[in-house]
Amino acid sequence: MKVLIIGNGGRENALAWKVSKSDKIEKIFMAKGNGGTEDFCTNIDIDPKDLDGLLDFAKKEKIDLTIVGPEDPLCAGIVDKFKEEGLKIFGPNKECAKFEKSKEFTKKFLEKYNIPTAKYKSFKDFEGAKEGLSDFSYPLVIKADGLCLGKGVFICKDKNEGEQALEKIFKDRIFGSEGDLVVMEEFLEGVESSLLCFVSNNKLFPLETAKDHKQIFDGNKGPNTGGVGTYSPGHKFSKKTYEEMEKILRKIEEGFRAENLSYYGILFIGFMISNEMPKVLEFNVRFGDPETEVLMPRIKGDLVDIIEKCLDGNLKKDDIKWTDEVSLTTILCSDGYPLSYQKGKEIKGIEKLDEDIMLFHNGTIKKDGKLYTNGGRVLSVTALGKNLREAREKVYKNIENIDFENKYFRKDIGLI
Ligand code: AMP
Ligand code: GLY
Repeated sequence: MKVLIIGNGGRENALAWKVSKSDKIEKIFMAKGNGGTEDFCTNIDIDPKDLDGLLDFAKKEKIDLTIVGPEDPLCAGIVDKFKEEGLKIFGPNKECAKFEKSKEFTKKFLEKYNIPTAKYKSFKDFEGAKEGLSDFSYPLVIKADGLCLGKGVFICKDKNEGEQALEKIFKDRIFGSEGDLVVMEEFLEGVESSLLCFVSNNKLFPLETAKDHKQIFDGNKGPNTGGVGTYSPGHKFSKKTYEEMEKILRKIEEGFRAENLSYYGILFIGFMISNEMPKVLEFNVRFGDPETEVLMPRIKGDLVDIIEKCLDGNLKKDDIKWTDEVSLTTILCSDGYPLSYQKGKEIKGIEKLDEDIMLFHNGTIKKDGKLYTNGGRVLSVTALGKNLREAREKVYKNIENIDFENKYFRKDIGLI
């Protein structure tokens, strides 16, 4: 089979690594891929947002299966386009991708199907939203409705901070038209957990849990990033919590059917758990990054088989098997991320990594045989261990071998 994977990050590198282990695979193309995928895939110079370019390429190369990493092409309708041409592609169609494209759309769905979530209101303009600030208690969560690379959320400790966030979104338009609508919602306290599910014809098949670390500094301090470290399984919750999560999954399926959706692909559910009761924070319609970096090493068997069954609509729970080992990833970043940071620093020492380390590249580029930083998140250093401590020790020992100017990473992944 020829597989095309769309995306440039650590998530796509981890997907390609897992796909490459399938006996069925003849060739993997990456659009655009990165310095890590170049070693075992063919990187092609087509932007993930260039839907027509990707479609032409898939037709010309007779690609058997396309896997979409990031949300942008999904929200722009790449799945609909490929399917119209009879091409097999893994991901939700444009209608279903709205669960990520619009936070308000998801909130309405959650409310309609009685799925626990934070209370909310949405606003279309600055003045109305400013008045709305009085209707909530603080801290208050203010979110741009659209796609903001995980950075569209403000946690405001008082009205003043709320007004500043609204100014940034509505007046400075820091998110452009993605901030045309604002969702304000009650702040939920608790423990966060990501649950990714394969979705096969509106039926949800949960993967194992993963715990993401979104803030840039140790102790979960500082601004939110796309995620800078993760481990799987995530927190262990009580039986009651799992039962409640299960109820939520069934309600989501019911909602998908009642709305006449035809959901295939991945649904990523962000939960906040408090007093054993989970509430839904958000939906994403794709694999998580860095969750994928820890989930792929734990899946036993053939990912391509799972995806094909999922697309045929006959995936079963037993088709997805897991190793008992624990996996952990710490991301090496360029100092300054998620704000401003430098690129183009030479990366040295990856040949010194232990054999059982999986190194997924988030933002690297190769030039004349040398590897350079090419993003805020640079490398995901990943290991499996018999427990969290062992996985953590392997990762942190090996991080020392990798060197580049302005290397920054959290020291506490696996400790909190
Ligand atoms: P989202 O993009 O909606 O997942 O939000 C990004 C992050 O902001 C989440 O992972 C949470 O850490 C935080 N967050 C979002 N909504 C809430 C909420 N209602 N209460 C508390 N924290 C939240
Ligand atoms: N790690 C969070 C995300 O992929 O959205």
